[in-house]
Order: sequence, then structure tokens, then C-alpha cells
Amino acid sequence: MEFFATASSGTEKALQKELIELGFQSVRLNSGGIPFLGEIEDGWRACLHSRIAQRIQLVLARFPAPDEQALYDGVKNIDWIPYLRPDLSLAVGAFCHSSNLTHTNYIAQKVKDAIVDQQREVYNARSNVVRDDPDVRVFVFVGSNKATIYLDMSGTPLFQRGYRLEKGEAPLKETLAAAMLMYSGWDRKTPLWDPMCGSGTIAIEAGLWARNIPPGIFREKFGFERWGDFDDKSAETMRRLRGEARRYATGNMPKIIASDYDPVVLKAAEENARRAGIKISFREARIEEIQADGAKRIVVTNPPFNERLAADLKFYRSLGAAFSRLHGCRVTFITSNPALIQCVPLKGIETIELKNGDLDCRFCIYDIP
Ligand SMILES: C[S@@+](CC[C@H](N)C(=O)[O-])C[C@H]1O[C@@H](n2cnc3c(N)ncnc32)[C@H](O)[C@@H]1O
Repeated sequence: MEFFATASSGTEKALQKELIELGFQSVRLNSGGIPFLGEIEDGWRACLHSRIAQRIQLVLARFPAPDEQALYDGVKNIDWIPYLRPDLSLAVGAFCHSSNLTHTNYIAQKVKDAIVDQQREVYNARSNVVRDDPDVRVFVFVGSNKATIYLDMSGTPLFQRGYRLEKGEAPLKETLAAAMLMYSGWDRKTPLWDPMCGSGTIAIEAGLWARNIPPGIFREKFGFERWGDFDDKSAETMRRLRGEARRYATGNMPKIIASDYDPVVLKAAEENARRAGIKISFREARIEEIQADGAKRIVVTNPPFNERLAADLKFYRSLGAAFSRLHGCRVTFITSNPALIQCVPLKGIETIELKNGDLDCRFCIYDIP
């Protein structure tokens, strides 16, 4: 079976590395996501274990779709019966580019028609279409007049881990925080510090990774557990995989420090960490006041971008000065604001372009001499 792990823009290389480390087969680099091959259980395992993927999708079919009839016929040729009983609800999402078919709503409509027409022929009944929380979610991509049909395995996107109930003003997606940790080169042994931790996402994701706690363990159900073919035997297998995932969580954790100058967000971060079962050393501190204490640490952080949270040049200069005092440490941060990068008086060793929602960002890596 072919799977496609979707990635937010710029995180593909981190996701590819993660999937290889998790032991998946035929993992290839692609823009927008990472394809890999395996048995259906591998798709289930990816949902449980991937920290960086947004969704895991099963590729059902690829076929030429130069016009609506070809799209309809191609979708109707797929056997939907195992996945979709008429009592299960359905949603179809579509994307397209460089093709004769140009309207995503129309493409989604055609795909839905082909699926429910097949159901009517077999059951004389059809699924309801719902937008929110469907039992079965289908994605269609039409590019260069070829259609690819995906079945979403995740349900709600994988960044919604379930531990972060309290948020600061500008929280990072958990999957992006996990990608930053992977790109930072952290070895999961060196002490880690987020000095502008907000709701604690980076520190908590670091703790989960260091302890090998699979992020999907907080989920009650994934999308595939609502498919028509998910029977008692499948549920038994999934119980076994969840049990194995819990036993897998045995890693030791180095010291993880999370600080922020705002006591209210720190309290929220503490609650989130408690729910995730991660022990973090929380401190109320202003970044401008930090001094080197000789400890070798890695800093992974998300300073205010001057978008949702204000930040001026004076603050960025003091941030740059504070980072430069951390002799012997690796300092990494994400920003959408080039002014911050200009205020760090050091030569970076790497800069990676990433998207944070709609914002074009850079993830910058420095080794402080
Ligand atoms: C973009 S938010 C971090 C969001 C965080 N990554 C999350 O996922 O929730 C930036 C954080 O920097 C903190 N901050 C701003 N100025 C600061 C300063 N001078 N010292 C320490 N923290 C500061 C803010 O309180 C805010 O929580």
C-alpha cells in the first residue's frame, strides 16, 4: 500500500528523516509531504508515532482525469464498499493545479457523486455528506490532468495532540515545533531550553521525543478507526499497537527548561506539561537578563514576530545580545521577521525556510563561540 504523510511547507526533510528513523519503507522526499510504502498497519503506526506529519493518507488510486467524466469514472472504479457503509458520513476535499479541471468545489462534487452512486447501486442507500468530523474523509488532487485519490487516516489533524488545552497568544503547531527540534540537531541528551516558551509547545514536544512517548498516544481515536472495514480484529491489533507504543516510552530525559516573562502563560504551560506527563523546569525570566553560566545547552525558541505579539528593534537587539552571551551553546529560533536575524551579531550555520500558518519564516541555527 502507498501512504502519503502530509507536511507543512519546509518541514518535508525533517519528516522524511523521522519516517526513516521510525523504520518505514521506501520513504521519498516530495514537496508537501512524504510518500512511503507498507501494510495497512504501517499507516496506523505512522498515525501513532509521527511527530511531524500533519496527516497520514492512504493512496487509493491514480488515473488520468482530463475532464469531469474521466474523473467520475476513475472514482467509481475504486471499490468504496470496504471503507464506506451508507450509515457512515463522508466529506470530500479537493486541490488542483495546471489542469483542465480548475474548480475545486466542482471536483469535490464530482468525486462525491461517483462515490454515492456506487453506494446506491450496491445498498440502495448512500452516505450523508458532512463538513465537520466526517467518519470518512476523501482528498482529491488533480495536477497536470492526473487525479490522485487519498483516504485520510488521521481524522483530526495530527498536530492536535490533545495535551495542549491552554494556549498563549501565538502558539506554534506541535508538528512545527517537532520539526524545529529535528532541524536543530538536538541529540535528545543535551539539556534544552526555550526562553520564550509561551504555552510550552517546544519544551513539551522535546520531552515527548526524548522519552520516546508517541504523540498519538493521547488520541482516543484516529480517522481509520471509523472506516467500515475497521472490525473487531483490527481493534484488537490497534490495542496491541497502542500497548507497544506505551512500552516504547522508556527514554531518559535530559533537563528541559522553559521560561517566559509572563506568569500567566507559564501557568498554562505547566498545565499542558502536566497533561502530557513531561517534567519541565519552569522559570519566570526575561530573556534580556540571561547570563552564561557555563552550561552547554541547546536553545530552541519562538520569539515574538511582531505579528500577533509586538516586538521592536530594541527588543531584537537585546535578544541578539542575550543569545551571543550563551558561549558554547547552540541557539536556534524561528522568525518571520528579518529584523531579528539582522540583530543577531553572529554568522549562522544554517537557515531553513518554513511556513508557520500563512507566514513565511526562517529557522536559524547558530553555534555561539
Ligand atoms: C510567539 S510566543 C511563543 C509561543 C510558544 N512557542 C507556544 O507554542 O505557545 C513568544 C513568547 O515570548 C514571550 N516573551 C516576549 N518577550 C519576552 C521577554 N523579554 N522575555 C521572556 N519572554 C518573552 C511572550 O510572553 C510569549 O509567550
